[in-house]
Amino acid sequence: MDEFPEVDCAQPDFWSRRYQSGETPWQLDYVPKQLATFINALPVGAEILIPGSGGDWRTIGAFHQAGCYIKAIDFSPVAVERARKALDRVADSLILGDFFSYDFGPRRFDVIYERTFLCSLPPRLWKNYLNRVAQLLRPKGKLAGFFLYGEETDPPPYPLTETCAKKLFPGRFELLRNEAVADSLPIFRGMEKWQEWALL
Ligand SMILES: C[S@@+](CC[C@H](N)C(=O)[O-])C[C@H]1O[C@@H](n2cnc3c(N)ncnc32)[C@H](O)[C@@H]1O
Repeated sequence: MDEFPEVDCAQPDFWSRRYQSGETPWQLDYVPKQLATFINALPVGAEILIPGSGGDWRTIGAFHQAGCYIKAIDFSPVAVERARKALDRVADSLILGDFFSYDFGPRRFDVIYERTFLCSLPPRLWKNYLNRVAQLLRPKGKLAGFFLYGEETDPPPYPLTETCAKKLFPGRFELLRNEAVADSLPIFRGMEKWQEWALL
């Protein structure tokens, strides 16, 4: 974990530069199967938060179309502006802000959707991430989505390992679902797991 010096990925500029230069190999242009199935099973009105939503406007749109109340937050102005343009009428679902410090008021969410946000954070922030997720979920709320597992090569991404997940989640979250992912992007193939963690 300490083998690679930390790059500046805890700063919005790092990500804005990537969006501006088009160096965004994590970006999806489809809604993955497990996410679509999960969204279809949600009750109308379920309250969803997507932290580090980047340019993934399709996912925001899919939750919205299913009748969910959806908020997404990203601290890169470039990503937020682009996603807002694509979303048009749903654009006010998107917040320009820092997931760790933005004031969501008294609202608590039924689901926090994860994809390539946790692995974009330096591991020193992972505990803060889980504390923040726990703070923003309703009791028994779910942290659900795609989690990256594997070896760290040229971070970010910073993948999880089984050992580190066993240290991070238990005690606060219970693993309800853990599945291999068949339709990952080539760069993540074999590394993504669809997981649903319930807040205890
Ligand atoms: C690898 S991208 C993933 C984007 C999106 N989840 C997706 O799947 O396409 C990571 C995103 O997290 C955002 N980010 C990183 N730290 C953040 C923070 N503290 N608050 C809000 N957004 C953050 C970055 O701006 C970037 O858009």
